[in-house]
Amino acid sequence: MRRIKLSLARDLKVDFVDRDLALRRVEEWSEKSTYPVQVIYGPEGCGKTAWLRQSVELLRELGFDVIYLNPIERIFLTEVGIEDVRRRLNEVLHEATDEAWVKATWLLIDLARSLIKAGRRRVAIIVDDVFSAIGLSKAAMYVKGMLGLIEYPPRDYDVIITVAATSEGLSRREIGRHRWADLMPMWNMSKEGFKQLYNQIPGNKLPFEEAWRLTGGNPLILGEFYKAGWNIGTVVGKIIDNKRIEAFIASLSTEERHWLEDAVNDPDTLLTRERMQLMDRLVELNLLIDVIPERDSYLWIDHPPLRKDLGLGIGEHNAWQTPLHREAVKRVLERFNRSSPP
Ligand SMILES: Nc1ncnc2c1ncn2[C@@H]1O[C@H](COP(=O)(O)OP(=O)(O)O)[C@@H](O)[C@H]1O
Ligand SMILES: [Mg+2]
Repeated sequence: MRRIKLSLARDLKVDFVDRDLALRRVEEWSEKSTYPVQVIYGPEGCGKTAWLRQSVELLRELGFDVIYLNPIERIFLTEVGIEDVRRRLNEVLHEATDEAWVKATWLLIDLARSLIKAGRRRVAIIVDDVFSAIGLSKAAMYVKGMLGLIEYPPRDYDVIITVAATSEGLSRREIGRHRWADLMPMWNMSKEGFKQLYNQIPGNKLPFEEAWRLTGGNPLILGEFYKAGWNIGTVVGKIIDNKRIEAFIASLSTEERHWLEDAVNDPDTLLTRERMQLMDRLVELNLLIDVIPERDSYLWIDHPPLRKDLGLGIGEHNAWQTPLHREAVKRVLERFNRSSPP
């Protein structure tokens, strides 16, 4: 399989590495269809998009008609045997507006039907980050539309693959209430995989063990470090600003701030009745991932994290998206306590 190239930073192209188990999962799907829809969730920047884009390449080589759409990053890839389908998508996306991408997202289901109707027998529809584009409240409806392709196809087919990926903890909840999808987590890279990526970065860099300890294997954060000249404060500061952590912490009561301190040490401490609301807010801000399933590799896309690895902010049931997300919260808490001691 041809390995795709990815941009870790504007001036740094890398080869797709690792994720062998995740790619093998796609091969399994190519033999027996996905049922129901597979919804993949995981930390922001853990590598969902990279894997899915590599999967487009794999599926094309396996003889599939593939459509991949990512309205947030504004990428669409089509490998389809029906020119009309590509033309219709191109027409809608000719106008490069948010509305056009939302329209294209909904149109995708129709286009997949057209492919099946036209007699294509191996079809893969991959949507990435569409829920934040169409609105989280519509996530479940969209998944139901994808399921309809498998359950009520306009014509016979051999294999249909339907996959959606999301970094939004909330969309996962919305979808989880129905039985239209299997929710499958994907975690940051394993230490070996991360090493292969790290080795592709030229020049002076943080020692590997330190990069691992700070990123927890998250390739996006590794890229941020590279861009920031390996300055930790810059990268943490960016997370603090993007997620508006100052405002979030200022909105908490003294008691809640204590709970948050506990969660910095062990995210599972949030699992009590009183602390649940705080946990929900951390999920909403995409700082924390909750309800992490057992570390049975069958339930995961690629390698699961350790059952517990508090050094990286991973508890048994809850985990910080990366150690740096936790660090961002920790730094603001400390600042807060200094300026208004308890
Ligand atoms: N398997 C991989 N091999 C090489 N680079 C990767 C890999 N996975 C992710 N990356 C890099 O990390 C960045 C963030 O990954 P991405 O797939 O966008 O994360 P997500 O979609 O989960 O938010 C990508 O732009 C890419 O540069
Ligand atoms: Mg993505």
